[in-house]
Amino acid sequence: MKIFNDIFKIIEYRKSLNGSIGFVPTMGALHNGHLSLIQNSVKNNDFTIVSIFVNPTQFLPGEDLDKYPKRETADLKICEFSGVDAVFMPKKSDIYSDEEPTIIAPAQKAYILEGFERPTHFDGVLTIVLKLLNIISPTNAYFGKKDSQQLYLIKNMAQSFFLKTNIIPCEIVREEDGLALSSRNIYLDLEERKKALSISKSLKLASKAMMKGEFDCTSLKQIMSETMQSIDVEYIEIVNRNFDKIDKIVLKNSIILIAAKVGATRLIDNLWI
Ligand code: PAF
Repeated sequence: MKIFNDIFKIIEYRKSLNGSIGFVPTMGALHNGHLSLIQNSVKNNDFTIVSIFVNPTQFLPGEDLDKYPKRETADLKICEFSGVDAVFMPKKSDIYSDEEPTIIAPAQKAYILEGFERPTHFDGVLTIVLKLLNIISPTNAYFGKKDSQQLYLIKNMAQSFFLKTNIIPCEIVREEDGLALSSRNIYLDLEERKKALSISKSLKLASKAMMKGEFDCTSLKQIMSETMQSIDVEYIEIVNRNFDKIDKIVLKNSIILIAAKVGATRLIDNLWI
């Protein structure tokens, strides 16, 4: 497996490859959720490139940028054993300069939900994703459905800017007990981890209620919030696949979204219906 820090060297390497290129952008601290993106890419492409870059522009001042978990040696081993061909780990100063244009995500879809308390978060995500897609020029790029708003905005950017890369959504990966995998789960102590389970439980309850014919969003939100009383729920929202809020579930076109703080750790989860 090759490791590149230099942008021009990875561009040269990319040019030397003949065949389809799968790309998995990450911020490191790889877990089984990332692994499933990587496996998807390895299975469906001739070559797979993973990037590891903790992107400063998607963190707001005071957020956990400095504390963001770093596990470079373990990450590289995971990539190597999973059949990744190259890992790209650029320096911040090579990616960003002091004066440059940035992408502004569409406000009505980016400054709600995950972007409500973090208004410039998705501007930073779209900016880095565009830069990385331009550097790697992949055939397919893999993103998890867990970050559903991010996935929507990236797809929207790819369409709006006529990018040639296919944006491939991948299923949420969960622990056996239902907790959605996240790099932030390591911050949870035992008690918090138990409490965090109420998030996936509430999604299961909503699913059961829908099987019994309950499609009213207010009623579903009520059922879910009752299950999550021991944690600090930031939002429970139900949107269609275009991220417009809806009042009634439309099958194959709805997503239930939850963000909650468990202790000091902020977690998100969702259910695609
Ligand atoms: O989902 C992430 O890990 C990040 O937002 C991404 C897409 C790698 C951009 O930094």
